[in-house]
Amino acid sequence: MNPTLAPAASASLIRREVAGLPSYDPGADTDEVAALSGAGRVIKLSNSEIPYGPSPAVAEAVRLGTAAGFARYPDPTGKRLTEAIGNHLDVPADRIVLGNGSENILELLCRAVLDPGDLVVTQAPGFSLHEIFPRVMGARVEKVPVTAEFGFDADAWRRALAAGPKLVFLANPCNPTGAILNSAELARVVDGTPESALLVLDEAYGEFARPDQSYPDGLEALRGLDRPWIVLRTFSKAYGLAGLRVGYGIASDNALVRALDRVRTPYNVNRPAQDAAMAALGDHAHLADTVSRTRLEIARVAGRLRAAGLRVVPSSTNFLFIDTGRPSDRIARELHRAGIIVKAWREPGYETYIRASLSTPEDNDVFVRCLTETCAKDEL
Ligand SMILES: Cc1ncc(COP(=O)(O)O)c(C=O)c1O
Repeated sequence: MNPTLAPAASASLIRREVAGLPSYDPGADTDEVAALSGAGRVIKLSNSEIPYGPSPAVAEAVRLGTAAGFARYPDPTGKRLTEAIGNHLDVPADRIVLGNGSENILELLCRAVLDPGDLVVTQAPGFSLHEIFPRVMGARVEKVPVTAEFGFDADAWRRALAAGPKLVFLANPCNPTGAILNSAELARVVDGTPESALLVLDEAYGEFARPDQSYPDGLEALRGLDRPWIVLRTFSKAYGLAGLRVGYGIASDNALVRALDRVRTPYNVNRPAQDAAMAALGDHAHLADTVSRTRLEIARVAGRLRAAGLRVVPSSTNFLFIDTGRPSDRIARELHRAGIIVKAWREPGYETYIRASLSTPEDNDVFVRCLTETCAKDEL
């Protein structure tokens, strides 16, 4: 085979929208950072995972599921899990959709709803898949900036929503800032979103924020509304199941769920993931413990970084958005040498910011020390 011919030929097949797409940035590779740093153990703070692991009930559920046979396809409707989620939230199971992570549902929504040229409104800085998946469909994406204090810009949202989007992606809490919208702010987005548009409320980090008095439960805010909406949640974050890939959506109506069923791969949530999610959902004590430990630790780490002179956005999640005052790529590279992986932020206006999630208190102390030392270096 001629190694130069194959890529050139395939390049001409790729749709224009896809060829121009930014790649999703999953953060630096753990093995590469381990090799670079010579550290026996890498401290990975780049993917907003939790350090505590899932409920102990998960391992047992997956083991029992294994006995039932990996040779069988999983239930394509995820019946047991949608019923359990429906009972838990007091929503009919036929309004619950499952995804291979909640990112899968973001993708399905774009596939089901968007035509080329449609407008999608989301926020900046934001979660890159809120932009990438619409662009795959040839949609235009308008990103509404946060205020200088990382708050909700009501006027900017009103203007963007008045332009007639077909889809609105709102993350509450926001990734990467960790900030939350309060009930009044959420209501302004809901009221401003045309009834002909689908409002997608992405609550991937909602469990961490729920104890905040000012954090609105999106499902309660939307449940009675006679308009298209969907609330997305995930087992990846507070439930500690990122590796198994299972998220869910609660939709305004069953027609939306059926549309997503038509565009998804039929067995999108595998058998161990369904079993694990059932077990995790049932362990309320483990979730409560994870959330309270996370909230204490995020306050401690943010306090230490602020005491060292860094600007840190108040966070209701398990990660911090930190202004290093230096190009974040360089800071991230220095931290790699110390065996620490953070996400260097690259959106325009935020190139001095990193996003770092929590690990154990000991790891977090290493991170605080290395980051403050790195930021103090003149040559960076
Ligand atoms: C805002 C937001 N939504 C959705 C996701 C997707 O998470 P998952 O596919 O693991 O459920 C993430 C992951 O980081 C996220 O930050």
